[in-house]
This record gives sequence, C-alpha cells and structure tokens, in this order.
Amino acid sequence: MILNARSFLTAGHTFTQRQEAAFFASIRLRNGTFKTTDHHRLDDLNLLVIGEWQKLDRKPREIMDVGVSSGISSLEWADALARAGIDAKIVATDLCMHASLVPLLPAYEVLLDRDGKVIQHILGNRPVRWSLDGPRDFFRGTGFLVAALNAFASTLLLLTNGRRRGKDVLLVNPDARDNARLSFAEDDILAPNPEHLRGRFNAIRVANLLNRGYFDEAQLRRAVDNLKDRLMGAGSFLIVNRTHADGNNNGTIFQLSEANKFEIVARMRDGSEIEDIVLSPDADGAQLRAASQNRSLSTPSRPR
Ligand SMILES: C[S@@+](CC[C@H](N)C(=O)[O-])C[C@H]1O[C@@H](n2cnc3c(N)ncnc32)[C@H](O)[C@@H]1O
Repeated sequence: MILNARSFLTAGHTFTQRQEAAFFASIRLRNGTFKTTDHHRLDDLNLLVIGEWQKLDRKPREIMDVGVSSGISSLEWADALARAGIDAKIVATDLCMHASLVPLLPAYEVLLDRDGKVIQHILGNRPVRWSLDGPRDFFRGTGFLVAALNAFASTLLLLTNGRRRGKDVLLVNPDARDNARLSFAEDDILAPNPEHLRGRFNAIRVANLLNRGYFDEAQLRRAVDNLKDRLMGAGSFLIVNRTHADGNNNGTIFQLSEANKFEIVARMRDGSEIEDIVLSPDADGAQLRAASQNRSLSTPSRPR
C-alpha cells in the first residue's frame, strides 16, 4: 500500500518503515524542500557526536534538532544519547509539522500547508504531487495531470472556502510524537529568531536542510546566524550534515569558542558542504542577507 496523508493520519502504528519513508519523501514543501527522511539515516553521525562529547567530557542537556521531518532521527538520537548516559531533552522543529486534510470531491482530497497551499493531492488512495518536474513531465503526460489538479484544487478551495473544513494531520512519526524526551515545534530557520529560542541550547543539529541545492549563500548565512544566536555561547555545539545519494553522511561538528567563533571539532567523511560559511567571519553577510531578504527560495536540486 502506498501511504498518502489520509492513510498516514488513520493508520496509527501499522505502516512499515519503508512505507513511512516513501510517504515523507513524496512530500515537497512550497519552498522547494522535501520532507525526505528515514529510520537509521543518521546512526553513524550519532555515534561520532557522542564519541566526541565523551572525549570532551561534555553532556549537553538542552538540544535542538532543526528540520526534522517525521522526527524519527530525533527519536533515534535521544535514544542513542540515553544509552550513552546523556540525559538530554530535544526540541525538534520543522517548517511544516501540521498540515490540513481537506475533502474536495468524493475520492478527491488535498493536503494543505499552513498558508493553504496544496502539498499533496489524493486521488482515490493515490498520492499525487503538486510540483512540476520540468518539461520532461509533460512529455510523460504526468505534467498535464499535475497542472490540471493544481488549477482544479485552487478553484474548488476558493469556491467552497474548503480551507475551513480541514482535518489536522500531524506529520510526525507516532513513536517520536509520544516520546517524553522530545518536544515538537514549527519553526522557520530563515525567519528572525523567536525570543524564547535565543541563547537556549548547548547543541543544535541541522541535517539535510542547509544544502547549497536548497538555499543560496545569503540564506545559508542567515540560517547559520540564527542557529548561532540560539546557542548558549562558548562551548556549545553546532552539527551540520548532509546525507548523499549513496546514503553516506557528510557532516561537521563545530564548537563555539570564547571569541564566539565556530571551530571544527570533528568531521564525518568529507564534512559539511557549508563549512566555509559556518567558519567565515560574517564580513559581507549583512549585505547578502539584505539582498536576499525579499527573494523567494531557490529551486532544490533533488530530494534528500
Ligand atoms: C530533507 S528533510 C530532513 C529531515 C531530517 N533532518 C533528516 O535528516 O532525515 C528537510 C526538512 O526541513 C524542513 N524545512 C524546510 N525548510 C525549512 C525551514 N526554512 N526551516 C525549518 N525547517 C525547514 C522540511 O519541512 C523537511 O522536513
């Protein structure tokens, strides 16, 4: 069975890890990012981080995991930390955690984000994406179906005020949702930091989000500035990782120095692709950020 937003809402704990992964990979947000994630995706990164913290004799207790999708990696991280004797609370955040399932016609529903935009069509039981995949999509014919559904859904939502009739869908793995060490919040890492998140965490991880394929340089700098501002200061950690198409993790563990600059503690394989941004003094960052403030997000290269 292919999971769609309705079956994810109603299936409880009955779906397999593979079905869950396929469901999250099928959801693309309106900023171009995908909700792709999977069980055990970050296991080796967890081991590296815990090993480094043990070497440094550090036990971070207030942790944030940014852009967590289903939250399954946050749960696995919390479990790995607990096994290593690190009793941490993790705030797991994502731009889109709540969505709304709206019936439009018999056997036709749409999943909407918080702005009321379609992020999945459901025809019968079949999930259909909203995003078009370039001209190739039209050669294959799928592009016409997707474009027609997008136009049809917008019109029906407008005419029927459909947004009002939605059922809330929490896009979080049920085990993660019920775990006492985790709390979940919606959060945009590119927006100004909410006051309650500033200076609060002694470790923050961001995996498979701050990619050059998703964001431009100014946006990446803005996100890194926001993450730095959420840390408690000297001695706090930032972990940035990307899982490549072969499943290998490439990441870097940074630590804030007394001079409030990031330094590298350890690398996983090639390290983070945005190391230069995290390490560079923010010379022209302000200018770049101002230039991109009103620009919409760039088109991503591929789901990761
Ligand atoms: C590819 S998934 C990564 C999930 C998980 N961290 C992992 O590595 O498996 C990227 C996640 O970032 C979220 N996201 C996209 N834009 C974001 C933003 N501006 N702020 C916070 N989260 C965002 C998406 O909703 C998505 O769930």
